[in-house]
Amino acid sequence: MAKAKTVYQCTECGGEAPKWQGQCPHCGQWNTLVEALGAPPAARFRNVAGARSVVTSLASVAPQENRRIPTGLGEFDRVLGGGLVPGGVVLLGGDPGIGKSTLLLQASAALGAAHRTLYVTGEESPDQIALRAQRLGLVNAPVELLAEVQLEAIVAAIDATAPEFVVIDSIQTVYTEALTSAPGSVSQVRECAAQLTRLAKQRGVVVMFVGHVTKEGAIAGPRVLEHIVDTVLYFEGEPHSSFRLVRAIKNRYGAANELGVFAMTERGLKGVTNPSALFLSRHGEPVPGSAIVATVEGSRPLLVEIQALVDPVHGGNARRLAVGLDPQRLALLLAVLHRHGGVETAGYDVFVNAVGGVRIGEPAVDLALLLAVQSSIRNKALPDKLMVFGEVGLAGEIRPVQRGLERIREAAKLGFRTVMLPTANKPKQGVDDVTLVAVDRIDAALDYLRD
Ligand code: TYD
Ligand code: MG
Repeated sequence: MAKAKTVYQCTECGGEAPKWQGQCPHCGQWNTLVEALGAPPAARFRNVAGARSVVTSLASVAPQENRRIPTGLGEFDRVLGGGLVPGGVVLLGGDPGIGKSTLLLQASAALGAAHRTLYVTGEESPDQIALRAQRLGLVNAPVELLAEVQLEAIVAAIDATAPEFVVIDSIQTVYTEALTSAPGSVSQVRECAAQLTRLAKQRGVVVMFVGHVTKEGAIAGPRVLEHIVDTVLYFEGEPHSSFRLVRAIKNRYGAANELGVFAMTERGLKGVTNPSALFLSRHGEPVPGSAIVATVEGSRPLLVEIQALVDPVHGGNARRLAVGLDPQRLALLLAVLHRHGGVETAGYDVFVNAVGGVRIGEPAVDLALLLAVQSSIRNKALPDKLMVFGEVGLAGEIRPVQRGLERIREAAKLGFRTVMLPTANKPKQGVDDVTLVAVDRIDAALDYLRD
């Protein structure tokens, strides 16, 4: 068979060159040419389904509720937005050894009971998978295994066995004969993922890719896969703790930013039903530099402890370090604290941390962060059983955040007795026995604690 012709395509401008060059001849960018399939334009732009395209009016389209197939793993279904959707393509990324294969093997085993499921392994031998299955107590799980890395052979196997669910572990090991570049290269990963995605859409098969995260933190280089697939899930969390968080970065069938919480046990990943308790460290007595915030991750509130350590600089420049929080935001908040709260941090190193390896991106954490910093400076603990939330503005005002009531209720559920919150978030009616302290300026918040 004659080999399909390949060209080199620029990842920036899409321009093509017949040979590899260091610089793109079209846009002048360096190191952006990657190998791609040089199909004739007519074939390349043909409609995916092969059908004639017709123009319709938006009003005439009756939206269909996607049929969801739950995997039976509650926390996994939660991040997926209720389950897997036929024809949906999911990418599960994360560091090596974090539990990607474990999670997808557990999901395959659960799905296999009612649906034909194919697990394609390119990284481990069937023996190794069987060993893992034994550990998970899933030896007799009705899952079909295929140890294969060549795309054409994988497609042929899917054709032959017509599974409803396919796991590709991992997409970086798959390669197509049509390209000459090495497996795992950007061109191979992109082409193989695109072909499998097309197959998924045509047949209504669910395809789940395992993807490795490169050193830069992107999946397979320049985020090439995130655009192709419907759902992108990332494992996050501290590699040293037994807890694993799975976050939906993108989801065409559900809420992005949804968070699933698991514990890695001797027998695989188990969903954690009350994750709030997890992110609170257990101090016997309240300690300085610690504040509790209720953050809303996806559909549920989570209580997370924010810790701060403020220490005089010993030579050199003052350092600011944020773990699980935005470092830029930290710098900004410290400036607000100085200007509007009168608390000076120049000449101090400031370290802040969100306990448990959770990452918090929403500004509702601002107030808790500043109170933790001030508490560390004064070496005085915040009152016991206090939860704090609210965004802090550049003018020193405390701004309301969304879903305040849910945050208060979560705190009440876990035995918190006082909640400090933005005035605009104060509910008309009280919540249980919780004392609500409404503040609208950062100085008022600091004053409340300065007894
Ligand atoms: P794995 O799923 O192989 O990670 P990935 O596919 O993301 O590279 O997970 C491997 C880790 O999980 C390994 O360190 C062992 C641990 N593990 C358990 O603690 N309990 C178990 O039941 C299993 C199967 C794995
Ligand atoms: Mg693996």
